[in-house]
Amino acid sequence: MNVLVTGGLGYIGSHTCVQLIEAGMNPILIDNLHNSKLAVLERIEKLVGTCPIFHQGDIRNKVFLFSVFAREKIDTVIHFAGLKAVGESVEKPLEYYDNNVNGTLVLMDTMRNAGITSIIISSSATVYGDSASVPIREDFPTFATNPYGRSKLMVEECLTDFQKANPGWSITLLRYFNPVGSHKSGEIGEDPQGVPNNLMPYISQVAVGRRKYLSVFGDDYPTPDGSGIRDYIHVVDLANGHLAALRKVSTMSGLHIYNLGTGDGTSVFEMVAAFSKASGKEIAYKVALRRLGDIAECWADPTKAYVELGWEATHSLDDMVMDTWRWQSNNPSGYPGN
Ligand code: NAD
Ligand code: UFG
Repeated sequence: MNVLVTGGLGYIGSHTCVQLIEAGMNPILIDNLHNSKLAVLERIEKLVGTCPIFHQGDIRNKVFLFSVFAREKIDTVIHFAGLKAVGESVEKPLEYYDNNVNGTLVLMDTMRNAGITSIIISSSATVYGDSASVPIREDFPTFATNPYGRSKLMVEECLTDFQKANPGWSITLLRYFNPVGSHKSGEIGEDPQGVPNNLMPYISQVAVGRRKYLSVFGDDYPTPDGSGIRDYIHVVDLANGHLAALRKVSTMSGLHIYNLGTGDGTSVFEMVAAFSKASGKEIAYKVALRRLGDIAECWADPTKAYVELGWEATHSLDDMVMDTWRWQSNNPSGYPGN
């Protein structure tokens, strides 16, 4: 199967590309290198022995996108390309709506013109806002609290309308919880530019000596140890969730929505302890004020994906921290190059 992967050099895209190739599929990658480096391609080749086809360009560029669809034989699309930093989205809402919403619409229009009617899209647990209860099921109400979340919700709503008007299409929305970890080789991983926003890359940069200490954003939440609880999911499990969706629903017309999470919650303090154990390094931290917009707890009910896709997460928290540490300690400054 020939799978066009937008944002294919990014964190989740690169891991999915490796899993696709290992499963005998043929990914064709697009990326504008806004948040990734060409070095990722060499690493993928090192891991799987073949360099995937790569087209450098922006999905909002209709001429570029049309040329890729004209040149390649494409059966289906996995769409990762987008911007993902909540804080930045508050500063730059236009850029977020343009990239995430407009980018998706240009992609859909190009697919329609090329006669390709099947797509899997990255969505996020952020669309549940501050859910009234946990674990969170797919039929819970959706709500956005910031421009990033609103852009994801808008994409979901646009595609829901589009699928209603075009019932022959297969559209799959995968709502990721908190992706962490790396390929077990330590060759590819998460390489945030600048100061990391997310917990796991921040902790691993403290462990490797790039940052002095972690700020724990609040120890007064109504959780057992007072820190925030999230559903961390190993990125390879997440990548395999896309393969399960490809196999089970990408040829079935309809709108398919799945949570991709483990169903377990881990607190910030538990994550610090697990990382410290895996790395043998002390993780210095200071308790700071709560981060604006953060919620106390968020974890998935992943039953629907298990029942309908036959998918479940298999990596443990220890796997997540061990694999992150292998990537970070082998690549203390991330990928080489600009
Ligand atoms: P990432 O930034 O590592 O990867 C995204 C890739 O898309 C990057 O390589 C970037 O250069 C590329 N890109 C961005 N805009 C583009 C454009 N207009 N044209 C072409 N390429 C473009 O992010 P990721 O963590 O791999 O996330 C992938 C997707 O999953 C995103 O849509 C994100 O919103 C979603 N998501 C991520 C998380 C997370 O915590 N990582 C959680 C929920 C959802
Ligand atoms: N945290 C800290 N210190 C830090 C970073 C985070 O204490 O330096 C805490 C947060 O307060 C939260 C937990 O660690 O309790 C996880 O925070 P992350 O920023 O790693 O993850 P979030 O759950 O806040 O958000 C992430 C993505 C969103 C996405 C959401 C659900 O950033 O884009 O997961 O998928 F929408």
